[in-house]
Amino acid sequence: MSAVIRFENVHFTYPGDETESLCGIDLEIEEGSFVAVLGHNGSGKSTLAKHMNAILVPSEGKVTVNGIDTADEERLIDIRRSVGMVFQNPDNQIVANVVEDDVAFAPENLGVPPTEIRQRVDAALKQVGMYEYREHAPHLLSGGQKQRVAIAGVIAMEPKIIVLDEPTAMLDPMGRREVISTISRLCREKGMTVVLITHHMDECVGADRLVVMSNGHIVSDGSPARVFSQVELMESEGLTVPETTRLLFDLNREGFDLPLDILDTELCADAVAAAIRA
Ligand SMILES: Nc1ncnc2c1ncn2[C@@H]1O[C@H](COP(=O)(O)OP(=O)(O)OP(=O)(O)O)[C@@H](O)[C@H]1O
Ligand SMILES: [Mg+2]
Repeated sequence: MSAVIRFENVHFTYPGDETESLCGIDLEIEEGSFVAVLGHNGSGKSTLAKHMNAILVPSEGKVTVNGIDTADEERLIDIRRSVGMVFQNPDNQIVANVVEDDVAFAPENLGVPPTEIRQRVDAALKQVGMYEYREHAPHLLSGGQKQRVAIAGVIAMEPKIIVLDEPTAMLDPMGRREVISTISRLCREKGMTVVLITHHMDECVGADRLVVMSNGHIVSDGSPARVFSQVELMESEGLTVPETTRLLFDLNREGFDLPLDILDTELCADAVAAAIRA
């Protein structure tokens, strides 16, 4: 597998700020992977995300997308075509009065021919499960539905990579589930590379990889099971761990010697039952 996004010793300071918001980030995102990024408020997650499609460029170091340096202004369009971004508030991302016009907006701006736009819009709406709503008014949809329309708008540009910065922050639990299952399907079935920035640890469980940020640094990086098993580190970052990990960790404190990297509830129950019997 090859890296589609590569950060090399990336430092970034906002103009007028005294402290760095990214402090020497090295990170490679593999093609087709689902990477979750977790971290407390102000840890640098959004700053990291904005470096992935050249909304921000490093103060020092380098970011490349498909080998293209994001600081190369002549290649900005190539970068924006390769990396689609979805933000927190779906209302800020909706531009048209009809769902299908909204989804068509970005590819129209890219100069895609009308017949192909029709095809892309229909395909994108089907992929996010919103095809039946194509003639509806976006402002009458639920938060989760609006966010899925925003995702369809990004998919219609046919990017290789989709970066979502807390796309579920303003949604209710059902909207959150809709959005997370939509993006994980895009990765698993369509082979898209997904970077999901989130505050919710349960949204990270299905990712291939979990990156934890703290004060502009990456403090943990690995499979979700492995990262969550570092219970003390996670708690010192103000992050919670899944209930399975928490239970195993608490039992170990009482003298058990259970593995901490079990996220599946049934496997966790089996491990606990076996340990009690032993
Ligand atoms: N536009 C800006 N100008 C100056 N400083 C900024 C700006 N945006 C963010 N920062 C600072 O950069 C640091 C990282 O912020 P960032 O928004 O990347 O964090 P975050 O992890 O996305 O936080 P949150 O969970 O609240 O979204 C913080 O210290 C923040 O105050
Ligand atoms: Mg943020």
